Amino acid sequence: MIARSGVPAKPTLYDPVLARHIVFMAIRKIARMGADILREPARPVADPTAPTVRALVRDMLETMADAEGAGLAAPQINEPWRIVIFHVPGARATREGEGEEGEGEEAEVPLTILCNPEIEILGDEEEWGWEACLSVPGLMGMVPRAARIRYRGVTPEGEVIEREAEGFHARVVQHECDHLDGILYPQRMTDLSLLGFAEEFHRAPPELSGEIADVEEDEEEAA
Ligand code: NI
Repeated sequence: MIARSGVPAKPTLYDPVLARHIVFMAIRKIARMGADILREPARPVADPTAPTVRALVRDMLETMADAEGAGLAAPQINEPWRIVIFHVPGARATREGEGEEGEGEEAEVPLTILCNPEIEILGDEEEWGWEACLSVPGLMGMVPRAARIRYRGVTPEGEVIEREAEGFHARVVQHECDHLDGILYPQRMTDLSLLGFAEEFHRAPPELSGEIADVEEDEEEAA
């Protein structure tokens, strides 16, 4: 933009013409614990196939990849919508699920995008596991979760996905869907002595006792 004097005008923030390039900058700032958006329930997506949803999902995918997370919920990038994305690498799903060695391919959960996801808890069994969250950087905590769930949601292609999940798969889905209800994993913890900086826990793994003692010492993945 050139001002009449011939001197370049001072660009204004969010000028729709000057800010066109922002469309291509898809890595978004991640909201951290304490931000209002992480405490508020997210809103249902009226039309999961809308182009605006596709654009938002693209930003979520780029942001998750950049942060090397296992999952991400829309409120984490300051968007108040019921959208989650997640994936579970095969090796991880096999280690934490009930699959035997060699079933890694089967256990792998492909990158999944869900609008308006719903979870149904199957059975009473709970499992403990380490969790970390991109919105709670640097920390990890020991969180009890339902061991088995059924979940369903709609993809941006309009396809309904319904799956049963267990192990790390079930954990990631519960963690992400909690974000849509304004809940962060520390709020699910029952023993806050097992909330701490990942660096410290990796340097000196905490003594686990009782039912928590069975937990495998895996690297937690932020979601
Ligand atoms: Ni999270």
